[in-house]
Amino acid sequence: MSNPEPNSESNEPTLPADLDPERIPVHVAIIMDGNGRWARSHGHDRLVGHNQGYRTLKEIVFAADAAGVKYLTVYGFSSENWRRPQAEVGGLMELMVRAMQAEIEELIERNIRVRVSGRVSALPADLRDVFSDAMSRTAEFAGLTFNLAINYGGRAEVVDAVRAVAALVKSGDLQPDEIDDHHIAAHLYSPEIPDPDLLIRTAGEMRLSNFLLWETAYSEIYVTQVCWPDFHPEQFYLALLDYQKRVRRFGAVVE
Ligand code: FPP
Repeated sequence: MSNPEPNSESNEPTLPADLDPERIPVHVAIIMDGNGRWARSHGHDRLVGHNQGYRTLKEIVFAADAAGVKYLTVYGFSSENWRRPQAEVGGLMELMVRAMQAEIEELIERNIRVRVSGRVSALPADLRDVFSDAMSRTAEFAGLTFNLAINYGGRAEVVDAVRAVAALVKSGDLQPDEIDDHHIAAHLYSPEIPDPDLLIRTAGEMRLSNFLLWETAYSEIYVTQVCWPDFHPEQFYLALLDYQKRVRRFGAVVE
């Protein structure tokens, strides 16, 4: 595999003058799609696309922080991605370990809190260890929360929450007719994180792909044709500007 080395540049992104600092989405979620297409169009192996995707992710974490976004959730590896060729799955796991080891000191310097969402117990031990270390070292930080969805499936998340609520019913701590959406929300993987205001998907597909099914009920959706490795801070800020033009109704009538 001819992977380039991780990016060591840390140029601060320039915020567009017309971005309203009072209307920055609190939580942005991203489906980082198109690494494979980017790699193919540049004549590379898919893993080179993922490695380039890592460079982009680093830029976007800092761009989100600079704009004042409080929570950034990205889809790193879905519960369906295990169906990919073994070499790609292994390469992605290795890349995530390497990326967290390479970036943790800078994340700490920037006061960024690391979280993971997904069925983490099924991940390789080295990946679990590196993220558990990053989470404990950054747990008290008040800056941007970077939430990586790994071995994540939206339906599995709801199933896991329903199991936890069912256990409360079984123990007699909750009556079935007392269950409401707050009980489900309280047992999702990251209950302290508010629902995403904005969901961005790169590379043009118009679907949710089992990402944050419960949490995106009222999220604004922004789809761009740009493949993830080419999604730089300027494109991220275009998504924020587009979000600022939206009128959010949450089911109500707005005059
Ligand atoms: C989708 O592109 C992308 C993924 C399945 C993996 C996302 C991973 C990264 C961005 C790598 C960096 C992550 C971390 C946490 C360091 P695809 O392969 O489905 O693209 P395609 O649809 O064009 O084939």
